[in-house]
Amino acid sequence: MDDLVAPVATEAPGLIPDALDGAGVVPDGAASGPAPDEGPVRAGLLPMTAQVRTDGRLAVGGVDLVGLADRFGTPLFVYDEDHLRARCREAVAAWGDGVAYATKAFLCRAMAGLAHEEGMWLDVSTGGELHVAVSAGVPSARLVLHGNNKSEDELAHALDSGVGRIVVDSFDEIERLARLARAPTSGRGRQPVMVRVTPGVEAHTHDFVRTGQEDSKFGFGLASGAASDAVAHVRALAGVDLVGIHAHIGSQVFRVESFAEEVEVLSSFFIPLELPELCVGGGLGVPYLAEERAPSIAQWAQTVHDACRRAGIPPDTRITAEPGRSIAATAGVTLYRVGTIKELRGVRTYVAVDGGMSDNPRPVLYGSGYETFLPRDAAAPRPRAARVVGKHCETGDIVVADARLPSDVAVGDVLATPVTGAYGYSMASNYNKVPRPAVVFVSGGEARLVVRRETYDDLIRLDG
Ligand code: LLP
Repeated sequence: MDDLVAPVATEAPGLIPDALDGAGVVPDGAASGPAPDEGPVRAGLLPMTAQVRTDGRLAVGGVDLVGLADRFGTPLFVYDEDHLRARCREAVAAWGDGVAYATKAFLCRAMAGLAHEEGMWLDVSTGGELHVAVSAGVPSARLVLHGNNKSEDELAHALDSGVGRIVVDSFDEIERLARLARAPTSGRGRQPVMVRVTPGVEAHTHDFVRTGQEDSKFGFGLASGAASDAVAHVRALAGVDLVGIHAHIGSQVFRVESFAEEVEVLSSFFIPLELPELCVGGGLGVPYLAEERAPSIAQWAQTVHDACRRAGIPPDTRITAEPGRSIAATAGVTLYRVGTIKELRGVRTYVAVDGGMSDNPRPVLYGSGYETFLPRDAAAPRPRAARVVGKHCETGDIVVADARLPSDVAVGDVLATPVTGAYGYSMASNYNKVPRPAVVFVSGGEARLVVRRETYDDLIRLDG
């Protein structure tokens, strides 16, 4: 079988080792070698079981990536199952019971089942995410329902299935809950809810700002008094138990001190309420590029726990979080096939692959950068500058704006972008009627298809 690999080297030779520092951005440790962007892709950007085989090809989970592309086609999302499990375990060890995987980062039934098996709760932010999680066998008591505009149907479904927490986000939602709670239903227990507050702390990737007014569509503002009013309203609801306060300050946050700031701001509101639970949301960042470093989940939790202690939050409070990206991002790699190479003399080289903004809209949406490498020669230097683009009918359809590639990149090569495990497949579309890719989990030398590739027939199955 092409995906059972030859013996692998014990280290990933040629890959630039990680010098993880904990927090902030530090210079890459490869000062004496080739410039980092011309050297091979850094090991810390690859899934944890990634290894360069003796023939130079990269294996993940003991499975050769080029073989996977041949077997399952491209574009292909490949997830290192051991990596996903390790991050879930780290989260449970660091935060304890109640820490929830934010399914918006990446969700299919296999992922929901995996996170549940590893002891995580699941954060679902729509009826659709709730449906997928429940259909994967996750007990609804371990689901946290979010959303700034939950419909009456979504709320009724959540109440009927007995989700673990509903995170209340608006006064309209409180009214809906009051109506639903009055409706006669048999056997419905008391529903635990949390109130989402907007702490006025906004985390940017490297920093935070305290905003005077809280301009957000999410939650209830602290400064305006809306959060206090919401707590009072929820406490007055029949059939509902207020168990805690929730806040979320942003995503792709590198500086864990931003979360300490969040705790500090929340504490004077939270402590007098004498509630058993505080959730600080998700948001821990991950490195996408050679020069980026991020703290670990354990360091994030430690910083928050220290901040809670300093702020005088009672030690028996259940402190939870909702990591998404830090669980899934680095576990995933996207494989594409190179179809066209255009060298525009004096301008740039365009390397076009068989996916693009339909499987990864992040470069278009956020200007996000990625690394690239060729899995057939993963330790090769990457002296060649190019722009990797997709196959969509838009100039903006960029996969990697400033990519580095080995000099011999050629049509037919499998090209990989690492760190695509979060907010890639979950934000994929059928733009230009491009079928969405397949998703494969790899572990112990085996590959299993967890989401099949869409077919052309899938593209017309909803048409009347
Ligand atoms: N909890 C709440 C309430 C959230 O809104 C989010 C993310 C999370 C948890 C998980 O955050 P994470 O740990 O994954 O950063 N599409 C964007 C990211 C949007 C995140 C939205 N909310 C991206 O591709 O960067």
